[in-house]
Parts: sequence; C-alpha cells; structure tokens
Amino acid sequence: MSFPDVRMRRLRRTPALRRLVRETHLHADHLVLPLFVRPGEGLRTPIASMPGCFQLSVDELVRECHQVADLGIPAILLFGIPTSKDPVGSEAYALDGIIQRAVRALKAALPDLLVITDVCLCEYTSHGHCGLIKGDEVDNDATLELLVKMALSHARAGADLVAPSDMMDGRVGEIRVGLDENGFQHVPIMAYSAKYASGFYGPFRDAAESPPQFGDRRGYQMDPPNALEALREVELDLDEGADIVMVKPALPYLDIIWRVKEKFRVPVAAYNVSGEYAMIKAAAERGWLDERAIVLETLTALRRAGADILITYSAKDVARWLRE
Ligand code: PBG
Repeated sequence: MSFPDVRMRRLRRTPALRRLVRETHLHADHLVLPLFVRPGEGLRTPIASMPGCFQLSVDELVRECHQVADLGIPAILLFGIPTSKDPVGSEAYALDGIIQRAVRALKAALPDLLVITDVCLCEYTSHGHCGLIKGDEVDNDATLELLVKMALSHARAGADLVAPSDMMDGRVGEIRVGLDENGFQHVPIMAYSAKYASGFYGPFRDAAESPPQFGDRRGYQMDPPNALEALREVELDLDEGADIVMVKPALPYLDIIWRVKEKFRVPVAAYNVSGEYAMIKAAAERGWLDERAIVLETLTALRRAGADILITYSAKDVARWLRE
C-alpha cells in the first residue's frame, strides 16, 4: 500500500492524534540536576558562562533543593568547590569537606531527594587534573586509592549514589570493593563510562574552578572519533560492577548512547553538559532560537536515542514546562 491509500499526515493532524502515537516521552522522573556547592553562607554566586546556574553555599543549596524536590525532580548531582586545593586533593575525602557537609545537610533536610556525588579529584587538586601527578602524567594506580577514599567518605555522609568521572582504569571495581567492605553494598555506582575529552566542558571548568593548570585531559578521557572503544569502556565498567553507565557529552554523541543501549540494555544516563547548555542560553538570549522548544527537543532526542536518565542544567525549567 502506498499513496493515496497511505497518508502519513492523517496521524499528525491534531495534538490529540499526535499524543496517541507518540513513541518517546519526557517526564520529570528522568531528570537529574547538577549543582555546585561552595564554602560560605548565604552565597548564590552566578556562573557567567552558565546563565541561571550558581555556586551555592550549603544553606542556599538546601533551599534550592526544596524547590527541586517540589518540582518532582528525583535527583541532584553534586560538585564541590573546596576551601583550598593541594596536589593530592585532600578536601575531596575530608570528613568536613564541602561535599561531605553538603550531603549531610541535604539528607537531613530532604531524605527522599536522591543525592548523587561526583567522584573526581580535579576540583580539589592544585594542578586541576583528575588524579595524582607523577612526572607530567596522571598516575592511574596511585589515584585509585584516593578515589575509593572519596567515594567512601561520600557514602558515609549519606550519598545515595556515587558517580566516578575521573576516567582512571579500574576505578569502578576498586570503588565497589571499598563500598562493599564498609557496609555500603546498597550504594549504586553511576559510572561516567564513555566520557570524551570534549570542548563542551568549557563552562563547567569555570563553574567548578577546575581547569587543568598544564596539559589537557586527553591522556585519560576518550578520543572523540572512537565509538567501539566506548563499548569496551562500558563493558569493563559493567564487569567491574557499574549499575548505571553514562555517555558524556550527550547531543554530539547520540550514536554512542544508541549503541550502548542496543548492546547492553542497562540503565543509561546522558550528560547534557555545560557547553550544550551555554550554546542554547547564548542563542536564546539573542532571540536566535526558542529556548523552551530547543531544550525539550534536545532532551527528547536523548530519550529517543536510548537514554533513561537525563542530566541537565535545565532540569528545573523542564520540570515546570512539563507541568504546564
Ligand atoms: C570532572 C567533570 C567534568 C564535568 C563533569 N565532571 C569536567 C571535565 O572532565 O573536565 C563536565 C560537566 C559539564 O561540562 O557540564 N570532574
């Protein structure tokens, strides 16, 4: 059968018909909002390259998270800006580190809001790399021990999930063992499995004050032209005990999200990163595109590609738009 018996437009004619045959749905349940916490009180410092995002002190973070929970967003992803940085990133695993204090405050105020913590040293090291430096390289194996300490300190503070983003080999397995040996068998790991060395992280590095002071991250993050390698990364992380795997950035890597979902059929998170957010904000501010339409279209595309979980700085707006 073909035209004129078949008319594809018949099912597109009204909003109700379109709803009836829609294949992909966007819901607040899928959203995770990344937030930045810093020392201090009453602070809500705007991040210039990410309009609408702030570095928050713990009290402001708790206020913000009341809104997040009220909007029906199930989870936040927490990044910390420490009081001071040193070569070994001491504040990353300190009992009274910024993340540890923030998590305790959040879990006391909002026990049902999921708190996911980023596990990576780059915000805490004076050199801005994601691990310990030996010579002019990041030392993989020496870094693992610190990542385990960091993940464990987050779990002790009450983190619901931990999310290693450092891209060291073997870190998921080591963190799993560390959590299990200390009574945190129930804490899931969301692994940044296919994390590419991307120009799209630029605004985040302002927000988290974490640009590398020398070199770049290409020695540990993935090379953008590679797709099969992403499948190996995901497979290794799953073997080591990852519960959720992530693809990052999101929009330029839809093919990777699709391949990962097709091959492994496990929960997949897509990180719609700072640069993706900033591009849309900048164009919308100039009136060059419609922010709401573009954000909803982008996130729907991530879902269509196979992402279950959408990590996005637009989560609050999206939750509001979906309610209207
Ligand atoms: C590293 C980390 C980065 C992001 C999340 N975790 C930056 C990097 O690897 O350089 C980027 C997130 C974004 O751009 O929104 N801890």
